[in-house]
Order: sequence, then structure tokens, then C-alpha cells
Amino acid sequence: MAVNEPEMLAAIAASSTLEELEKLRVAYVGRNGLVTQQLKAVGKLPADQRAAAGQAANAMRARVDQTLAEREVVLRAEEVSKELAVPVDVTAPGLTPKLGHRHPVTMVLDDLVDLFWQMGYQVVEGPEVETEWYNFEALLVGKDHPARDTQDTFYLEEAHLPRTHTSAVQIRHMEKHRDNLPIRIVVPGKVYRNEDEDPRHSWTFYQLEGLVVDENIGLSDLKGTLETMVRGVLGDATELRLRPNYFPYTEPSVEMDATCANCHGSGRVENETCRLCYGTGWLELGGAGMVHPQVLQNVGIDSDKYSGFAFGFGPERIATIKYGVGDVREFWRPNFKFLEQF
Ligand code: PHE
Repeated sequence: MAVNEPEMLAAIAASSTLEELEKLRVAYVGRNGLVTQQLKAVGKLPADQRAAAGQAANAMRARVDQTLAEREVVLRAEEVSKELAVPVDVTAPGLTPKLGHRHPVTMVLDDLVDLFWQMGYQVVEGPEVETEWYNFEALLVGKDHPARDTQDTFYLEEAHLPRTHTSAVQIRHMEKHRDNLPIRIVVPGKVYRNEDEDPRHSWTFYQLEGLVVDENIGLSDLKGTLETMVRGVLGDATELRLRPNYFPYTEPSVEMDATCANCHGSGRVENETCRLCYGTGWLELGGAGMVHPQVLQNVGIDSDKYSGFAFGFGPERIATIKYGVGDVREFWRPNFKFLEQF
């Protein structure tokens, strides 16, 4: 079949819309296009003619393709200038899209993650449904350990449960990375407990867990890190206080408090007892401590050589402090009047 190349190139050059150009593309280089058929026909030629005919057909295909592409650029540009030529009524009322925004707890969590990111931490996540092993036993909370009572939850079948804290991810991460130390991670995520709800407690809440494992890690590293964290989210004037506490998986264990954001540590506002900290001047943020050597050994890390610290606290708690919200449950009600304030 005769294919007339100059005719094809001329038709392409004469096309005046993108639609027309597309039709030509199909007619020439589409699956049954003229050029395509020519290429297919090469296979049926006697062997001694194939090479030359193949080369010629391929060269033609390249020229047709290029001409198509060049014409497309020109036609697209023409289309844009046509659109721009339509006068715009700049006085017409605009369409205002309804913009949402991040949830206040998400904002706090993002700020926290950002702070730790700047300190060189990696962000890691873990499953919300855990095994009893990761949630409790690997953290030295045996079946009859009293610490189970303080973190009661809703058990599922076959020793699974919605995790009661993000500490389970400490174990999962150390198991995977024990040969690749140091570890420096934060773990944001939801946790679940069988709690009676009140202004300070809800049965689903977020935690941010932190874990560092390296040589020569001490309590002072933990303190400095937490101090940087509370000042970063609650302001430079915030003081940090560590009190002795007990967690089975840390030794020593501490509770961390920050100076009250409402009374700035004085316990009083306008001669009345501060309502946020009940006059103590301090607000409890969460738990922390040095990783128990047995926990390191459980995941195969040499506890003579390595030590670490861990901490866990609730971003809701920080959000209530930061925004002066009296009831954590507000955050999880579908109340737009409340949420739109942030
Ligand atoms: N997992 C503890 C809690 O949920 C907090 C914590 C984390 C304590 C890490 C020590 C170390 O209360």
C-alpha cells in the first residue's frame, strides 16, 4: 500500500484543533494506522529487502511522530491564549471554598513529632490491636501483675487486645533493629482503656511514645530531652519536674510534670486557687524512665553495653493545657462550634 508521507505531514500542519490532530494521529500511527501497517508489512517482504524497508519505515514513523508532537505544542498554546482572551469579570462575587483544618489534637501531635524530628528521631507506627505479649509480657507485666489493673482494656479473642499504650511498639521496634543501634524513635498513636469517662479521662486517646537506645544513655539525657519537648510545645518559660514513679519496664521510673500553663506555677490566679492545676502549680504529663535491662535482654540487646530511656504521654493532655480546654471529651464530640475555634 502506498503511503504518502508529504501528504500526511501537510495534513498534520493544517490541523487546527487538538481533536482534529488526535484523529490524524490515530489514522497514521494508531493501531491500524497507515504508518503502522507499513511497518507491519515489512515482515512479509523477501529477506533481502527487509532491512532497508524496515529502516525507511521506522524513519518515517519518527518524522510523523515528531511532526504530531510539534503541532500539539502549537495547538495547545493557541487553546490557552483563546481561554485567556475571554474577559474576566473581576467584580463578580467569588466562590469561597469551605476550608477545613487539622483537629486540635492533630496539631499538637504534629508539633510534637516535628520537635522530635528536629532532634533526629524517626517516626514509627505500630498496630492498634496487639498481642498480650507485646502489650504486657515483653514489658515485664505478667498475667497477674497489678499493673494490668491500671491499664484494663477490652480483650479480644486469642490473647489479642486493643493496645493500652504505645509502649508495645518499643518492643516491636527493638526486635527488628537490635542489630542496627542506636535507636531514636517516637511513636504517635491511639490507645484504648476501660475507663470511666470524666473531664480528664476518655476510653480512647492518643499517646506519643519515645524510645532511645544507645551506649552511655543516662537519666540526664531523658531530662534534657523532655525539657526541650515541654518548652517546645508549651513555651520557653515552662519548667519540667520529674517525680519518682513505678513502671515495670523502666528502672528508675519517673512521672513528668510541667509548670501549670494557667497560673505559671504559682497555684493561684487572681487570688483564687488555679482551676487547671488545683493550686499545685504543676500539671502531670506522662510517664518515663530508663529502659529496664531485662526488657533489653528480652529483645536480645546487650544490656551491659547499651542503655536507653523511654517516655509516653498524651497529646490531648497537652492540648487541654495549651488551649485551656476544661474537658478532654470535648475533643472527640462532633461539635463544630467547639472545633472551629482552633
Ligand atoms: N506506657 C506508660 C503509660 O501508658 C507510659 C510510659 C512510657 C512509661 C514509657 C515509661 C516509659 O502510662
